[in-house]
Amino acid sequence: MKALIVYDTKTGMTEKIALAISAGMKEVGTSVVVKKADDATEDDFKGAEAWIVGAPTHIGSATGEAKKALKLGIATGASGKKGTTFDTRFASSGKGGAEKLRKMMEEAGVQIVVPPEWFVVTGTKGPLAEGEEAKATTFGRKIAGALRP
Ligand SMILES: Cc1cc2nc3c(=O)[nH]c(=O)nc-3n(C[C@H](O)[C@H](O)[C@H](O)COP(=O)(O)O)c2cc1C
Repeated sequence: MKALIVYDTKTGMTEKIALAISAGMKEVGTSVVVKKADDATEDDFKGAEAWIVGAPTHIGSATGEAKKALKLGIATGASGKKGTTFDTRFASSGKGGAEKLRKMMEEAGVQIVVPPEWFVVTGTKGPLAEGEEAKATTFGRKIAGALRP
């Protein structure tokens, strides 16, 4: 099983979460490629059976770069793909980027294998709240478990 983690970040917090998710998935033996949204190519999406897409929450949604990258992936063909989404946000936020990215995936026909997860930042530029990277590693293990044939 090959998985692709695509994330956007402005100040590094969502990148830390993406790398922690990747570490959790690798622990369970999943092959993972991690790409920043701007660098993700059509071939990256085509070559992965699972897409995990994340973003910082901006104005209750995902950043434009994350949505643009997922659109690029969807255009290569979403049928048969599995995935989930994540975001970083304030603890007080009612909703975030993960829900928007999930909706995009679902509408395109990606099978959501694990419910989206979000990770708390304590300020606009971070830091992450305590324990959030460990939570991301656990999320990665959970995703990898759900992707097992
Ligand atoms: C323009 C802007 C809008 C934001 N809007 C929200 C928001 O609606 N809800 C929220 O919880 N956090 C919001 N935030 C805080 C971001 O969630 C936070 O900056 C982000 O998690 C940091 O991730 P990064 O380091 O990967 O960029 C906003 C931040 C910026 C810069």
